[in-house]
Formats: sequence, C-alpha cells, structure tokens
Amino acid sequence: MSINSLNEKLGLKPIYIGDIELKGRVYIPPMAGFTDLPYRMVAREFDPDVLMSTEMLSSRAMIYSDIYKSPSDPSKMDIPEGESLTGVQLFGHEPELMALAAKMATDAGARFIDINMGCPVPKIVNGKDGAALMKEPELACEIVKAVISSTHLPVTVKTRLGWCYGSLNARDLAFKFQDLGVAALTLHGRTRSQKYEGEAQWELIGEAIAGLDIPVFANGDIKTLEDVKEILETTGASGVAIARGTMGRPWFSKQVNHYLETGEVLPEPSHAERLELSLRHCKLMVDYRGEKSGTKEIRKHIVKYTQGIPNSSEMRAKLSTLNSYAEAEDMINLLKESLISK
Ligand SMILES: Cc1cc2nc3c(=O)[nH]c(=O)nc-3n(C[C@H](O)[C@H](O)[C@H](O)COP(=O)(O)O)c2cc1C
Repeated sequence: MSINSLNEKLGLKPIYIGDIELKGRVYIPPMAGFTDLPYRMVAREFDPDVLMSTEMLSSRAMIYSDIYKSPSDPSKMDIPEGESLTGVQLFGHEPELMALAAKMATDAGARFIDINMGCPVPKIVNGKDGAALMKEPELACEIVKAVISSTHLPVTVKTRLGWCYGSLNARDLAFKFQDLGVAALTLHGRTRSQKYEGEAQWELIGEAIAGLDIPVFANGDIKTLEDVKEILETTGASGVAIARGTMGRPWFSKQVNHYLETGEVLPEPSHAERLELSLRHCKLMVDYRGEKSGTKEIRKHIVKYTQGIPNSSEMRAKLSTLNSYAEAEDMINLLKESLISK
C-alpha cells in the first residue's frame, strides 16, 4: 500500500460482501435504462474491481412474463459468463415472488442479489414497491428474510434516508436488515420525497450507519475524486456507489480506486479517446440490441460522452436522427477531425 493511500489514512478496511472480497471500493448501482450489458461491459473494460448491478428487474414480471420464464436461458439477466462482481437488483413487495425471482437470478449467474427499497418513481411506489417499502418496515423485513432463505448468494439492500424528512428510518431499517443477514447496504442520501432534487445529505448517511458492521456504499451526487474523499470522511462508509457520475465516464471508477489506493490522480482520457469510447459503446449496443434499437438507445450515452467536447453541441442536436452504426461512426469521426484541425 502506498504511503499516500487514502484507504490507510481513512482507516478503511477491505470490503467483504458475504463471501465476495472486493479489491476496490466502487459500486456502480442499478440505473434503469442505463446499466444494461453494454454499459457494464465498457465499465468492466476499465475496472476489473468495480462492483455492478443490472437495472432493476420486476420480480412479478420475472415470474409471470414469458421473457423471463426460462431459467435455462440466463442471458435474460445479462450476466456474462465468468463475470464475478455483478449482481441482479429485484423490486417487488410480495415476499414469495421476490424469493422465486432471487432463485432465478441465482441460477442465471448473479453474484449477489440486491433488493430495491429506494426507487421513488410513482409507478413503482404506487405499486408498494421500491421506496414505498420504507413505509412498511415489517413487510420490508419479510422480503429480506424470504430472499435470504431462497439463495446462497449475499443479499444486499439499496435504500434511501426515509420516505420524507418526517420519517428518517434508514438507521432503524439498516440495523434490522443487518440482524436478518443482509450482507451490505447502499444508502442514497435523499428521501423518497426529494426524488433526485436538492442535494444528497451525506452527514445524514453518516448518522444512519454509525455503528453498523456490514459494509455500506454511500450514495448521492459523487462526481469528483474530492467528492469521494469527502463522502467517505463524512459518512464513515466503506465504499461509494456512483451512478450518474459514471455516465459517459466509464473510467471514473478506476480513477477512484487508484486515487484511494495511491493518492494519485489518473489523467482524464483525451477528447479523441472519449469519442472513440462512445463509438465502442455504440458498437456493443448495436451488437446487443440490433441496429435500430441499439442506435436509438445509444443516443443518451453519446450525449454524456461528448459533453464538454468542442463543437459537439451541433452533433448532439443531430443525434435524434441517428439510425445506424455507420452514421454514428461518421458523426464521431467528423467531430474527431474537427478537434485535430483546430
Ligand atoms: C436514470 C436512473 C435510473 C435509476 N435506476 C435505478 C434502479 O433501477 N434501481 C435503483 O435502486 N436505483 C436506481 N437509480 C438510482 C441510482 O442508483 C442512485 O441511487 C441515484 O442516481 C443517486 O446516485 P448518483 O447521484 O451517483 O446518481 C437510478 C438513477 C437514475 C439517474
């Protein structure tokens, strides 16, 4: 370990999530519409140590819908063979269905099962799922118990500070979950009522997790290496969960882990490298979803990759018409040439 190691200065011990020993401290948590297989493949190319999760999957759909019916077809969960640090996130409020879904995810190669108790979207909470479970602690515990008893994998929970500022019960739930055998917690420093507004309250994460033994990934608004240092210092968490901060920046987790280990700041990729990366992501997306759907799906990612690159706004304006990989290649190459000719 380097003498400048922040891990050492902050007194951070290795993270164990059940039997998973992490070499890093970064978790890319689920992001519906983002953390699909291509996203995770690009992130994995940069960082062999980053922990990741699928997008949230509906336990109900897994049991009742045809697309998930065949446990012999693990590709539906999108866990590549040999991948050992990717979990499946499940949402739902029926303990039996959550348990069955966890079993399916286990058979499909998940390395851990994460339970969603943080999603604030009306469609989800109105169905009593996601953050709505914070209002029903007994049911939340029933779900945890059912999932744990259905799998040999570590089970983790991702949640928020509480439903609203009047009911900050993350601490109470965290200790209950720990007693039930939950292996790690991801805590987003906002309430459900805040959704994604305002600022994440890192000090409230610290208050909620003080004295907890299981690893906690502190989450919310981490965008820079300074943020990483500050959130770890403020909360006493063992790791960081970085969601939006990895959009169009799949190298960020590597930078974070390297910084924590050595105190050194790895350079940002050049503009040209970022453009090449966006094209690589596009290729993976097209291979995965087919040309039509893949090029539609990649647009939001290209927007992220090209932010801050000179002359890129004009290209972003044209993205809505992107329909083929060849067009993406032309657009990106044109932008690359404009960088050279500057
Ligand atoms: C587009 C988007 C989709 C998300 N989908 C999920 C999800 O499927 N499950 C979940 O637990 N959280 C989800 N989240 C929440 C993130 O995992 C994370 O908790 C939140 O964005 C705060 O972290 P950040 O500031 O690093 O982005 C999503 C967030 C975004 C922006």
